[in-house]
Amino acid sequence: MRLEGHTAFVSGAGGPMGRAVTERFAREGASVVITDISGSRLSETIAIVTPLLASGAKVIAVRGDITQAAEAEAVIAAARAAHIDTDIIINIVGGIKAKTMFEPMLTISEERWDATFALNTKGIFHLAKLLVPAMVERRYGKIVNISSISFAGETGNADYGAAKAAVASLTRTMAMEFAPHVNVNCIAPGTIRTSVMQRMSAEDLAYYAAKPLLKRLGEPADIANACLFLASDESSYITGEILAVSGGIWPAL
Ligand SMILES: NC(=O)c1ccc[n+]([C@@H]2O[C@H](COP(=O)([O-])OP(=O)(O)OC[C@H]3O[C@@H](n4cnc5c(N)ncnc54)[C@H](O)[C@@H]3O)[C@@H](O)[C@H]2O)c1
Repeated sequence: MRLEGHTAFVSGAGGPMGRAVTERFAREGASVVITDISGSRLSETIAIVTPLLASGAKVIAVRGDITQAAEAEAVIAAARAAHIDTDIIINIVGGIKAKTMFEPMLTISEERWDATFALNTKGIFHLAKLLVPAMVERRYGKIVNISSISFAGETGNADYGAAKAAVASLTRTMAMEFAPHVNVNCIAPGTIRTSVMQRMSAEDLAYYAAKPLLKRLGEPADIANACLFLASDESSYITGEILAVSGGIWPAL
């Protein structure tokens, strides 16, 4: 098992992507500290993951809004109370809260702009402050931030693209500041079959499936596999990188 003896913090663990990461990591022997703003989705993840845990591994789950410092602290406090030291962080929380998925920049409201930046960046910021000092002290840590290929700029997603560019930039700064014993990398997913798909028409889904070189949508498991690689010692000489997991949308651009 590739993560035996390690503990991973997974934010957004109630969603399809976070759940796939949590499942994959549990199967590889990790203990998991999981959080989500939705208590019901988090409960579903606990039910799925608990039977997969290796002997001696634990799941600690606390509902919370990871963009709020006090709620992030409460999640970490619960892990500490269970004598769990986190050495892996997978920052999944992000996206666009707005009802309209595609909005020209000139009509994006200031509220949406601020909310998108908070949703995509603040959890990374709070968790780093809470967990990285101990990683640096123990001289071991792996952090994976989820950006998006939209970070390169995307019509109709000015706020999201810019916020995901912030995630990519933050990844590099974190890699520099937390080196040499903490690896920080970033995954830029293409179109992945998660909750966001429920808001798409059949035509849109067909369009997105045809776009990548590999001619299919990404699955949450595709992201979980990449997270596993970047969280394991198999990637120990990789830091500050942005890995597109997009079926080849990136080279096709
Ligand atoms: N799905 C895609 O095609 C795609 C593409 C590129 C990037 N991404 C990125 O992948 C990540 C996951 O996206 P997804 O589509 O799987 O989302 P999702 O909606 O399926 O899951 C996200 C989970 O995060 C939780 N969450 C939301 N706000 C939270 C908060 N403040 N605190 C704690 N939990 C919170 C939600 O309840 C949900 O369970 C995001 O960062 C997103 O930007 C997704």
